[in-house]
Amino acid sequence: MSRTAIPTLSAKGCELPVIGFGTSQLGVCGEIVANALKVGYRHIDTAWKYGTEQGVGESIKASGVPRKDIFLVTKVSHEYLRAADFAKSVEESLERLQTDYVDLLFVHWPAIDGTPLAETMGALAKAKREGKARHVGVANFNIALTEEAMRLCPEPLAVLQAEYHAYLDQSRVLAFCRKAGLIFMAYCPLGRGRLLGDPVLGEIARNRGKSPAQIALRRLIEQGNIASIPRSANPQHMAESLDVFNFTLTDEEMKRIHALKRPDGRIANPKGRAPAWD
Ligand SMILES: NC(=O)c1ccc[n+]([C@@H]2O[C@H](COP(=O)([O-])OP(=O)(O)OC[C@H]3O[C@@H](n4cnc5c(N)ncnc54)[C@H](OP(=O)(O)O)[C@@H]3O)[C@@H](O)[C@H]2O)c1
Repeated sequence: MSRTAIPTLSAKGCELPVIGFGTSQLGVCGEIVANALKVGYRHIDTAWKYGTEQGVGESIKASGVPRKDIFLVTKVSHEYLRAADFAKSVEESLERLQTDYVDLLFVHWPAIDGTPLAETMGALAKAKREGKARHVGVANFNIALTEEAMRLCPEPLAVLQAEYHAYLDQSRVLAFCRKAGLIFMAYCPLGRGRLLGDPVLGEIARNRGKSPAQIALRRLIEQGNIASIPRSANPQHMAESLDVFNFTLTDEEMKRIHALKRPDGRIANPKGRAPAWD
């Protein structure tokens, strides 16, 4: 079995591979995740909501890769943020994933039904104390909500997961994470594929003998404190996205990519669920 040495990031005792494998929209994903593990991914991002936990669990089991060598992430959906629902959702996730624990457990989106954040943070911390999650974090929280969550959670939050790619300016949130000692985990790091035809990324990629996806991912790595979780159903793309550790971008190239940000660059913005973004 091949094993790529993937650099890691750490915060608050949580150490995770800087590139992980995203699984949203993959449907029945057993074979795809099996390929990702073969290619060398050791960080897998799933969620109760994606319907991919079963496939992820089965492929991990079948892969022969020791559970302890995989950084496994799941999320509790916004419908289940009351303490009792939260605990039930975690139990269901663990059952589908065929494991006793996840490495990182996220609240997937902030509450929209008035569930007190203190109640949810208590439930998140309880999952950690019971050994069902080694580390905990929040996803799709803005800065104010994350600060509130950090204050209310009896256990330290280690990671904030949010959308980030070259078309979206997240400089305020990145600066906040650095100051607060949180790892920033970038979802949609390829802009759900939209970045791949970008002429600037294309030109840099051609000059470097790399692909636009590799340039987009490398740019996230070079900013520091950012993990990325690209999703692919194509084993060649999977391998390519892990092969981003043998080159660096110049300051000029980084500047050109930073300049691609657009006011309408955000992709995941569900009406009625998204907080006021920073
Ligand atoms: N917390 C949240 O609310 C949230 C929201 C959205 C996403 N996420 C997480 O973040 C993950 C990634 O985001 P995403 O799935 O939306 O989009 P993404 O990873 O930005 O883009 C996926 C697209 O890029 C293509 N691709 C991937 N690697 C490639 C490569 N090396 N070369 C060329 N094309 C490549 C894929 O096509 P092929 O299959 O053809 O390679 C696919 O169409 C999700 O799967 C999920 O785990 C979390």
